[in-house]
Amino acid sequence: MPDSADDPAHSGEEIELRAPVLSDGAALWRIAEGTGVLDVNTPYAYLLWTRDFATTSVIALVDGRPAGFISGYLRPSDPQTLFIWQVAVDSEFRGRRLASRMLADVVARSGARRLETTITADNTASIALFTGLARDHDAEITRSDLFTEDLFPAQQETGEHHAAEDLYTVEPLRSS
Ligand SMILES: CC(C)(COP(=O)(O)OP(=O)(O)OC[C@H]1O[C@@H](n2cnc3c(N)ncnc32)[C@H](O)[C@@H]1OP(=O)(O)O)[C@@H](O)C(=O)NCCC(=O)NCCS
Repeated sequence: MPDSADDPAHSGEEIELRAPVLSDGAALWRIAEGTGVLDVNTPYAYLLWTRDFATTSVIALVDGRPAGFISGYLRPSDPQTLFIWQVAVDSEFRGRRLASRMLADVVARSGARRLETTITADNTASIALFTGLARDHDAEITRSDLFTEDLFPAQQETGEHHAAEDLYTVEPLRSS
């Protein structure tokens, strides 16, 4: 449902949060690419996401313009766990709680009791985002090793590896 912005600086703006549809796939790819920091997947991957994982994903539209998205899925081996894959907000729309609102929306729609995501140690904004979710749910947030640096392929030119992606778990999530 469309909603007005809480922030007085952007009052009058219409914010819509909804499950993405096929025709949003290209926008998801564009937003991911525009961050300059996310691992950008193929346009095909985002189309596939809008087809098969829409109910555990969200797109934010500000005055009808795609402004951010979250992609997630319920783990096949544990459907009570929502795994959040990518979170992106276009730079123009950052710092006004769009990511927090998208996360609350997708968590509520998923009905999951537990959330998992991976974050690199340098991503303070992302750590703050998921810590905020834990706070809102009176839940625990814990960190452990998952995709360590050595599991990633070395880049051909530099020999460098992708930074370690630590596993963050938030539970229990309230179901409403
Ligand atoms: C991470 C990102 C999605 C946050 O989007 P956003 O809409 O600006 O975030 P919000 O306004 O909802 O803020 C969420 C929390 O992060 C904090 N935060 C936001 N930007 C921050 C920054 N640059 N540095 C430190 N904290 C930051 C906010 O203060 C808030 O914490 P609080 O609840 O304790 O006040 C956005 O910066 C982004 O797209 N970054 C590039 C892609 C990325 O790194 N994605 C995450 C990994 S998948």
